[in-house]
Amino acid sequence: MENERKPIEVEVASPTGFCFGVKRAIESLEKCIGESAASDGAGKVYSIGMPIHNPQEVARLSRKGLVVVERIEDVPSGAGAFVRAHGVHPSVKKALLERCCGRVTDATCPFVKNAQEKAALLAKEGYSVLVLGDPNHPEVQAIVGCAGEDVSVASSLSEVKGVGKKDRLGVISQTTQKKEFLGAASEVLAPAVRELRIFNTICGATTQRQDAVRKITGSVDGLIVVGGKNSANTAKLVEIARSRNCDTLWIEHSGELDGRWFAGKARIGIAAGASTPDWLIEELKIALETSQVSRGMEGYDGRNDE
Ligand code: F3S
Repeated sequence: MENERKPIEVEVASPTGFCFGVKRAIESLEKCIGESAASDGAGKVYSIGMPIHNPQEVARLSRKGLVVVERIEDVPSGAGAFVRAHGVHPSVKKALLERCCGRVTDATCPFVKNAQEKAALLAKEGYSVLVLGDPNHPEVQAIVGCAGEDVSVASSLSEVKGVGKKDRLGVISQTTQKKEFLGAASEVLAPAVRELRIFNTICGATTQRQDAVRKITGSVDGLIVVGGKNSANTAKLVEIARSRNCDTLWIEHSGELDGRWFAGKARIGIAAGASTPDWLIEELKIALETSQVSRGMEGYDGRNDE
């Protein structure tokens, strides 16, 4: 009975979803929108770039009063502004403070701030600084902005090897970096650098979510990772699951589910990036548990029947 409808067993990775820093940032943004409404009646708060790498949560916040802009010039003078959890380049923060007459809520995550401070310390103490991360990610750009003139970024081991011989080198990681990459980079650098100083700035929340994915891949037939396609930490979860040969589906919301993917699967795992709100995880869980997805059924669109 290939198309017989059978319930799907669902296991949610633990921990998964919103991390401390993102939760804190969203709470402070909502508070800031409320204060803005009370002070000028408009209730608008401006963020340079998306405050969180999750389009669905950004849409929810935009309905409340968040305005996402690309450039500082797009923020009206004197308006309220918001600095997201992964921080901004120091020059952007300075310009925002001036433009908004000090009305800036800085929700940079304390762990990101720690990476920025370590970069500044290394620069102050005369080290060349190497940041292990994605050069295009705003968090890395903000860390680079704190690291003085002699700073470079490596996103792969071949780029780490390209650093060559150095007298004094300090290493910082993007907070969402994989610990294996930091370990491998340290091995490459140790023989080539006379004085090597490494700060492990990988965030515990990231490591825990990655470990939770490693664990769950052993007990499910397939894993659904829910999170923004622009989220670096969600991408890492997908990468880890796939590297363990776990059939992995990356979606932003339950409406993207395709019944064909469930063929032959009895037990499905759910994991979510640190920027995925609980309501999206819950929505997915309910869609899987209450819908009539059957293994082998085609054309399922992720919605319940009613
Ligand atoms: Fe902060 Fe770690 Fe989250 S750095 S924003 S608690 S992933």
